[in-house]
Amino acid sequence: MTAVESRAWTLTELAALADSSLDTIVSLQDPSGAYPASPTFSAYRGYSWFRDGAFIADGVSAWGDTASADRFHDWCSRILVSRRAHIEGIVAAAAAGIPVPDSEMLPTRFTLQGEEGADEWWDFQLDGYGTWLWGVVEHANRHTLSLESWQDAIELTVDYLVSSWRRPCFDWWEESADQVHGSTLGCIAAGLAAASPTLTGDRADATRAALQEIRGLLRQRGVVDGHLTKWLGSPEVDASLLSVIRPLGVFPAEGSIGAATIAAIDAQLNVGGGVHRYLADTFYGGGQWPLLSCFLGLNFLALGDRDRALDELRWAAATATALNELPEQVQQHLLEPRKMQEWLDRWGTVATPLLWSHGMFLRLAADLGLKATS
Ligand code: BGC
Repeated sequence: MTAVESRAWTLTELAALADSSLDTIVSLQDPSGAYPASPTFSAYRGYSWFRDGAFIADGVSAWGDTASADRFHDWCSRILVSRRAHIEGIVAAAAAGIPVPDSEMLPTRFTLQGEEGADEWWDFQLDGYGTWLWGVVEHANRHTLSLESWQDAIELTVDYLVSSWRRPCFDWWEESADQVHGSTLGCIAAGLAAASPTLTGDRADATRAALQEIRGLLRQRGVVDGHLTKWLGSPEVDASLLSVIRPLGVFPAEGSIGAATIAAIDAQLNVGGGVHRYLADTFYGGGQWPLLSCFLGLNFLALGDRDRALDELRWAAATATALNELPEQVQQHLLEPRKMQEWLDRWGTVATPLLWSHGMFLRLAADLGLKATS
């Protein structure tokens, strides 16, 4: 088990860990372009998630490896375009008022070869498709690339989300399928906003209308005590909501909703730099996730607090193993210690390396300007 020891990592050491994070990700990227979530972890082996992958590609792109991110976006694009008839069927059924059941919606993860795996999973989740849209446009804008080869997939994804964004589904943590989650709506809004300038005609109009409705819904039913909430109608926060502010940019960090959300998550879920998912978390005892510390760091940076952003990067760095691998979570501070053993028995030791942790480390290190130090 990793003990998180805080020490004064220098900027050069942090940049070296970012370089090594990029190596870890690229060396594990499948020839198909897929980023495996965690290559050896029992429950994730052989699969790539749109959610994880979109953020991993974003970190890789921000740290400067354009080609690796291109390959991931090509992989997503092939998956979507090869399912054109399926997606058009979902959109047509929604338009006719007889939406397909959850089991016929797109899955949240695919095998590295782009197939729907045979293993059972908590599959219907919409956020990853929104995050992918945001990520591919962000990548193209960052490196002045043409979106042309991804445009068909972008339009299919837009149609899918515009038709289905109201549906309850599993959240980032693959839980609470009967709710409409703040972070899921935020990811969808970010994706539609990013894709919007690339669209024309009725599709552009429908996208703008959906975006306005989602933003309105979030403000009306997704805010309690001034901050965004875990799901519509819940008073709780969830650290996934940080993403909606930075890097997804749906609400500005310094605006009232952004600032109140960051403050609530910092107060309730941040313990010494390590960030919990949500207060009732019991997965592996409910530890602290380095990828969430990086999201918090991105938000501190957006508020102009570079010192606290660097502290978050240092906290994440301290979770690295001797092989420079970042885990999914660490067990130093557990919310529900009695539940840890049950998960160790079920799935083995915590997923390590988790490529999403490395991807978020890259994005925060890049935004902190550490590339110049590497
Ligand atoms: C997490 C998901 C993640 C998946 C793969 C799950 O345990 O809840 O957010 O996408 O692992 O990393």
